[in-house]
Amino acid sequence: MRSHYCGEINETHLDQEVELCGWVHKRRDHGGVIFIDLRDREGIVQVVYDPDRADSFAVAESIRSEYVIKLRGRVRARPDGTINAKMKTGKIEVLGLELEILNHSETPPIQVDGDIEVNEETRLRYRYIDLRRPEMLQKIRLRRDVTLNLRRFLEDEGFYEIETPFLTKATPEGARDYLVPSRTHQNSFFALPQSPQLFKQLLMIAGMDRYYQVVRCFRDEDLRADRQPEFTQLDIETSFLDEHQIMALMEGMVRRLFNEVIDVQLPEQFPQISYAQAMELYGTDRPDLRNPLLLTDVGDLMQAVEFKVFSGPANSEDGRVVALKVPGAASLSRKEIDDYTQFVGIYGAKGLAYIKVNDRSAGIDGLQSPILKFLPDNVVEDIMQRTEAQSGDIVFFGADKTKVVNESIGALRDKMGKDQGLLEGQWKPVWVIDFPMFDWDEKSNRWTALHHPFTAPSCDQDTLKKAPGQAISRAYDLVLNGTEVGGGSIRIHKTDMQQVVFDLLGMATEESQEKFGFLLDALKYGCPPHGGIAFGLDRLVMLMSGASTIRDVMAFPKTQTAACPLTSAPAMVSDAQLKELGIRLRKPPVQQAE
Ligand code: AMO
Ligand code: AMP
Repeated sequence: MRSHYCGEINETHLDQEVELCGWVHKRRDHGGVIFIDLRDREGIVQVVYDPDRADSFAVAESIRSEYVIKLRGRVRARPDGTINAKMKTGKIEVLGLELEILNHSETPPIQVDGDIEVNEETRLRYRYIDLRRPEMLQKIRLRRDVTLNLRRFLEDEGFYEIETPFLTKATPEGARDYLVPSRTHQNSFFALPQSPQLFKQLLMIAGMDRYYQVVRCFRDEDLRADRQPEFTQLDIETSFLDEHQIMALMEGMVRRLFNEVIDVQLPEQFPQISYAQAMELYGTDRPDLRNPLLLTDVGDLMQAVEFKVFSGPANSEDGRVVALKVPGAASLSRKEIDDYTQFVGIYGAKGLAYIKVNDRSAGIDGLQSPILKFLPDNVVEDIMQRTEAQSGDIVFFGADKTKVVNESIGALRDKMGKDQGLLEGQWKPVWVIDFPMFDWDEKSNRWTALHHPFTAPSCDQDTLKKAPGQAISRAYDLVLNGTEVGGGSIRIHKTDMQQVVFDLLGMATEESQEKFGFLLDALKYGCPPHGGIAFGLDRLVMLMSGASTIRDVMAFPKTQTAACPLTSAPAMVSDAQLKELGIRLRKPPVQQAE
């Protein structure tokens, strides 16, 4: 039907006749001459229809935005003064000779050629139109470029792409399963995989050596801008490599990806930081290293003060008191500070104490704060010294349970860095390592795995059993600009160690047998030492494209409530279908009145 893509035409085609197909991006009537911006996947080209050719001119007059047309025309240089340097095809235009309408379009609910804000519900309901917008097309193209580049790297490195099942068994990885009923096994359910974790380990036992898969994962968890109920991992597993070798290999992959796809040079070696240090300095295990702000512990200075808000957590085992100095922010208004106080409240902080440093040389008199009256002068001076506060700075304080302080002041650090324009550099990757094996869950009164139960500890079994809370795992996360883009670990490859971990997680032998008996069995038959990682492909592409949510880099994402406005999924099913599956609803849908 066509000889070229619209976006391909350039000066090398001057005077040639071309046949083009595409969508009418814009039509402008310029007193006797009609201009059509014709769009296809590769770009937009301007086509001109003169009244001299009455037939095609008449058709050109009748077309509207988003009609699908086919045309024949001759490429010519644009007249001086009409060259559009912003367009790939901006030096030429096509003089229209023939024009055929292939299909009409109703006025679309989303304007393809403008930046008019449309609500997300409408964008998702009419996703096929939303995706026509050049901005969206560019993101989907980048995603394709990223996947292709990663596949090429892994193929070059001897990885096999192998598919693993979607209809499988529940894997507790800290998130909830989507269940699928089975017609042939009534009362039993498949679970959609939260990740192919166990299958990739089985593939190592099978001797596949190096595996990868671009694979959909399903997690029924609360959604955020960087979380979707179904998302894509670049999932990887290797045999006979240790964590240093895996991290080095993966660094090479990510470096090549950024270089080849978006022309960004990432550092020759990514820095590494321990989990403990990340929590201490940033209050989070996914620190944005572009942000120079740091948390400073001041608990030791607060133990003896009368101000209970500070002395309480300072003297408590699971409490923490930190200062966050923000340079140049002493000019924040009362209202702005109130807003930040509300902001930290979201994370459970009960307040946000602060000291403004108006004039550091004037000692206590140069400071301004509602809490000065509660603190001895020498403590205040120590805080000033420890935070290296200067005139014009503000020092915020967080005092509470460690978890609350880390979450609230960690989030404040992020927000302040952005609001105050403090971010330095464009791309700051960092490996977070030395995670604890376990986290104590107050509610259920038991240990939970920080990564997943198949992650190897860096100590032996006896040490692990003696002090599970002290044990460090051989896990690693890759964090880029404050987003966790990947996570992995060296796995347990011996049955007895795996059993110990299951025991510590409070899984009785029968329970672990029932849930993971197949893994425990497989470990007995010559399991090689192995480890791997999974990258959140959507998150990587989101960062690389500058999008602010992963929804913008997925062709058909779900809403924040995990629904699809396009297909109206999830939806009710017929009684007959339920009956066949042996399912009766606990709360049958209310019958609509006739
Ligand atoms: P983990 O659970 O850390 O590890 O997931 C790996 C990466 O997947 C991305 N990710 C998500 N992206 C979008 N929406 C979500 N709901 C979502 N959840 C996770 C993140 C994360 O770093 N099997 C292990 C990996 C391993 O040990 O090899 C796993 O799934 O970028
Ligand atoms: P109050 O004595 O409650 O008026 O608090 C005095 C100051 O301490 C106010 O600026 C509060 O915002 C702040 N504040 C109260 N609780 C905390 C807390 N847990 N952490 C940090 N600051 C707090």
